[in-house]
This record gives sequence, C-alpha cells and structure tokens, in this order.
Amino acid sequence: MLIQWNDSFNVHIEDVDYQHQTLVSLINDLGEAMSDGKGKEFLQKILAELIRYTKDHFQAEERIFRIVDYPESEEHKREHDTFVQKVTDFQVDFDRGRLGLTVEVLNFLCDWVRNHIKQSDKKYAQYIDASGLRP
Ligand code: FEO
Repeated sequence: MLIQWNDSFNVHIEDVDYQHQTLVSLINDLGEAMSDGKGKEFLQKILAELIRYTKDHFQAEERIFRIVDYPESEEHKREHDTFVQKVTDFQVDFDRGRLGLTVEVLNFLCDWVRNHIKQSDKKYAQYIDASGLRP
C-alpha cells in the first residue's frame, strides 16, 4: 500500500474525508496494479478513473469555497488546476506510449495528494471551523 490512511489526513468535513479516502484508494490501486504487472489497458482504466474522480472532488471543494466565501479560493483552485493539467499530460503521454507509468509518476501522485490534503485542504477546513460556517 502506497498511502496508509490515518487520522492526520482527516479535515473533519465528512464528505471531503470520504472523497479523500477514495482518492487515496485509487492511487493505492494504481500502485498495486503496477507492481502486479497488470497490462496497459488496465492501468489506463485506473488512471482515467483517478482523473475523473479527482476533478469531481475538486469541483466539490470549490463549491464549498463559494458557499463559505473562502478568501484563498483562487490560490487553492490554481493548485487544483495545475495538478489536473499535470496528470492529464501524464495520461496523454501514457496513452500515446511516450511515457511509462513509473515509480516517479507514482511518487509524484502520492506526494502531491499527501501534501495538498495535509496543508492546503486543512487550511480551508480550519478557516471554516474558525468562521463557524459549516457547508
Ligand atoms: Fe482535497 Fe483541494 O483537494
């Protein structure tokens, strides 16, 4: 397992924690499929699902930002957009055979998700807590 879920990931917004757990599971599934030597088609399916789910999750968070009028939403959305762009570029390169799914790619996904949840997502959750604006 690449990322072991533990309490340090919780932002204490139920839907968001559930979505983060699903994202972590998808990354773990991708890592497992790679280490099991699964074929390209299978990896493409998981990668596509990961991207689709990530986009849905980011949209859900951005809806929360609008509800609570989060002052750092633009900066946070930029992080989301950069990540989606980068992972979509991986996907295009992988589909076209220009890039293999490597340990570096997997490490990038793990590090980004870990850091983003523990820093940026926790920051807006703390803002919501402090302002008493539960979405
Ligand atoms: Fe949970 Fe900002 O992504």
